Amino acid sequence: MTHPSKRPVTAVIVVAAGSGERLGYGMPKALVPLGGEAILMHALRGVVAADVARQICIAVPKGDTELRELIAEFTVELVDGGPELTVVDGGSTRADSVRAGLAALEDGTEFVLVHDAARALAPERVFQRVADALASGAKAVIPAMPVVDTIKTVAATGDADSGIAPEIVTGTATREELRAVQTPQGFDVATLRRAHDAAALFDDRQSAAVTDDAMLVELQGVPVHAVRGASQSLKITTPLDLIIAEGLLEGPLGIRWVEG
Ligand code: C5P
Repeated sequence: MTHPSKRPVTAVIVVAAGSGERLGYGMPKALVPLGGEAILMHALRGVVAADVARQICIAVPKGDTELRELIAEFTVELVDGGPELTVVDGGSTRADSVRAGLAALEDGTEFVLVHDAARALAPERVFQRVADALASGAKAVIPAMPVVDTIKTVAATGDADSGIAPEIVTGTATREELRAVQTPQGFDVATLRRAHDAAALFDDRQSAAVTDDAMLVELQGVPVHAVRGASQSLKITTPLDLIIAEGLLEGPLGIRWVEG
């Protein structure tokens, strides 16, 4: 084990500024209750338990007061010597929220893990795998899972009224080469800042196509390494996801039984 003083200075940015419209609760997704506690609190407990971060920077919706109050209460629970919590206003896109987090990192931060609050049950071991790969020299690391479905590309046929189908298949990807990508994604801070500075100049169409941080780093030509993710890191997006997450929390053996 590395001596604590020799550990690289690592921060975790938790993005929690999404509206959560697809969940249909009429409140920010991070506030939606899961097992009696807000989604964000599960995510924060996971980050603290992983023990990789000196600073946790949380992006919340602009104008929010409720998440800020929960974070303030959580800060009181943290033991001396625990991570520093910083709260920032998120932006209108996920990438804007990450940029707000990057701007608030303490000087001297070497590595940053970017984590979706919506992946509230991501286990400690995934944070540690990502942090270990960074400590071994990777500039960018993602947790990834094999894909079980066959994935095809499609295009609109433009004849939705023809009675056949609105889309036509244009190809089938080789499943063995595909991975479903999760968070926390880890980066050398300077590398991620460069990638996000470049993305800040994107037009609306390009911005809409940005779905994770690693793709911005890929555009810079930086190799992105993949470590194993975990099934319970599912992104809570739809009501069904919330039911699954509740089931993982309430299962007879807790969430520990899940492989990965
Ligand atoms: O919307 P989606 O589920 O892809 O969001 C992924 C994560 O990014 C969520 O944790 C959400 O809170 C966060 N997000 C954000 N700022 C936005 C949009 C999404 O922090 N403007």
